[in-house]
Amino acid sequence: MSEQRAPAPIADEPAVALSGVCKRFGDREVIHDVTLAIPRGRITALLGPSGSGKSTLLGFVTGLVRPNAGQVRVLGEDVFALPRRGLLALRRRMGMLFQDNALFQSLSVVDNVAFPLLRVARRPAPEAKSRALALLEQVGLGGLHDRRPDQLSGGQQKRVALARALALEPELVLFDEPTSGLDPQTSAAIDALLRETQGRLGTTFIAITHDIVSAAAIADHVGLLVDGRLRAFGTRGAVWASTDPAVRAFLDRVPAGAGEAPAAPAPPPTGSGDLEL
Ligand SMILES: Nc1ncnc2c1ncn2[C@@H]1O[C@H](COP(=O)(O)OP(=O)(O)OP(=O)(O)O)[C@@H](O)[C@H]1O
Ligand SMILES: [Mg+2]
Repeated sequence: MSEQRAPAPIADEPAVALSGVCKRFGDREVIHDVTLAIPRGRITALLGPSGSGKSTLLGFVTGLVRPNAGQVRVLGEDVFALPRRGLLALRRRMGMLFQDNALFQSLSVVDNVAFPLLRVARRPAPEAKSRALALLEQVGLGGLHDRRPDQLSGGQQKRVALARALALEPELVLFDEPTSGLDPQTSAAIDALLRETQGRLGTTFIAITHDIVSAAAIADHVGLLVDGRLRAFGTRGAVWASTDPAVRAFLDRVPAGAGEAPAAPAPPPTGSGDLEL
């Protein structure tokens, strides 16, 4: 009897593996020959300046941006070789936190978290609600479940988005700029929550960010993209110790273009209060 079985997972296959990936928009190549392997069960931060290609890279992982060359493997699947149904099934194994949280403003906090359980997993309403309440408790929002998202602070909304992203027990969670728009203390609290949650669940987290402080606080592994090229990839310690000038310029916050011409020294204060423009 021939029974069709899914291929056995390769235990230490990376969560995400890109090999020789290139992407052009029109005649501009914005991702140049990127090869990397993001380990499972860790937090990886993909850092890079604005326009360096971080969101495009995230688009490869979700299957929304098709590369012009190269292969994208996510959770053991060749993303762009999958039929549509296979891609949808793969996406269900991923959770996503959007930069603006993408919460449903007309739904209460608990209904936001219960939404994927009801609509995607088709769980019965009482079960979805009790699981959503438990998730809210885990992200430190017990007691706020009846509010609407606009009655919460930015940090609290991020917690709701995390609870919702975890609802279907994803194997991989993608974060788009998890701390953007948050003050430093709230950012630190979200960083601590991400670390605690990842440590408890063992899920693979991938965060794209230009927040160096946050990456230093949460990431086990770091990749740095500059102008569509992967300039560094490795453990956080190894990347932070890099002597590559492009890596140093980003991590040491050298102003863009500073290498092209000597920066003019700041003029001494005149004390006159006049502004020369
Ligand atoms: N759909 C598109 N059509 C044309 N160009 C695009 C498209 N998407 C991205 N780009 C270009 O590709 C480059 C990389 O963009 P991307 O959004 O990936 O950068 P990013 O690192 O996420 O930037 P940011 O930190 O500002 O979000 C940019 O020059 C951008 O203008
Ligand atoms: Mg982006």
